[in-house]
Order: sequence, then C-alpha cells, then structure tokens
Amino acid sequence: MKTVQDYIRTIPDFPHEGIMFRDVTTLFSDPRGFRIAIDQLLHPYAGQNIDKVVGLEARGFILGGAIAHQLGKGFVPIRKKGKLPGKTIEQAYTLEYGEAVMEVHDDALQAGEKVLLVDDLLATGGTAEAGIKLIERMGAEVVGCAFVIDLPDLGGRKKLEKMGMAVHALCA
Ligand code: PRP
Ligand code: ADE
Repeated sequence: MKTVQDYIRTIPDFPHEGIMFRDVTTLFSDPRGFRIAIDQLLHPYAGQNIDKVVGLEARGFILGGAIAHQLGKGFVPIRKKGKLPGKTIEQAYTLEYGEAVMEVHDDALQAGEKVLLVDDLLATGGTAEAGIKLIERMGAEVVGCAFVIDLPDLGGRKKLEKMGMAVHALCA
C-alpha cells in the first residue's frame, strides 16, 4: 500500500539551481493520496478545541480548506502581499529560495481564538514563522502546525519548536 510520501515527486533545480523541489501536485491529484494526506494531517486535531484553520499560500489553501471542511471550522488564508482586498497586517520573511511579504485581513481572527496552521512543506520555517507572528499579532493562539513534508536539515521544525509550537508532519 502506498504511503503519502510515495505520491510526492522531487523535481531538481526548481525554482532555482540546487533546490530539490518537493512537488505535491501528484499527491493532490490522486484521490486516495489526497484523502490519506488530509486524514493523517487532521488526525491529531479531531475533537480538539480549534476555532479556525489558517492556510499559507498557496498549497496550504488546498490542504487547509479540506481540513477546515472536515473539522467543521472556518478557513482563513494568509496570502502573499497585494492579494487580499481588505485591511491587512503584513510580515516580511525569508524562505529556502527567497524572501517575500505575507498578509492577512486584520479582522480574520479574534483575540483568544485557537488556530491550526497548515502548509504543504516546512523547510527553513521562515514562511510558517511569519504566519505564526501574524496570527499572534491578532491575539489568537496557534495550537498546532501541520505539514505534509518536513525537511529537517533546513531547521524549520527546530525554529518552530523554539517558539513553543507543536509540529505535526507526515513525511521527510
Ligand atoms: C513553499 C512552501 C512553503 C514554503 C516553505 O512555498 O509551500 O510555504 O515554501 O519554505 P520555508 O520553510 O523555507 O519558509 P512558496 O514560497 O514556494 O510559495 P507558493 O506556495 O506560493 O508557491
Ligand atoms: N519550499 C521551500 N523549500 C521547498 C522545497 N524544497 N520543495 C518545495 N517547496 C519548498
């Protein structure tokens, strides 16, 4: 029986030379692959006190949307700068192959809300850290960070754990 990892392919030198890009489109396009990934991602959180699922652009939207639906919770997108129409707060960050700015609507979360943060991949942790900072700046609390892939050599898990985060990942 195939595992989640078996559905993911690695494309060398994307988006830059030297980057081994983990491509989850092959996981998402397979009905069984997508289902087991969603089931395994949300398993630790089923029955837990969670108010919102927050997804990081772009693949965190696909995973986070399905998880929010399954948990019966609302979904909040954190987007690259310039995409959200309402009033936003922003956070600059660096990732494995660049730097960028993330934004969230400033009224998307209420103080005290408990949030599950979702993305496809944890590498340096720069993107997730920016997401956590945005969530915490609104007074909400991150109760879990869920990823399909953790690339441990890039230090993201350590970075998030140092911030007091509980990290759940399906494969390396
Ligand atoms: C990828 C991935 C994570 C981030 C992880 O997104 O989906 O969001 O990089 O890297 P980090 O842990 O080093 O921060 P990318 O920035 O390529 O954006 P995209 O999903 O919009 O293509
Ligand atoms: N984001 C950062 N590093 C990545 C990688 N190696 N594959 C896919 N997404 C990434």
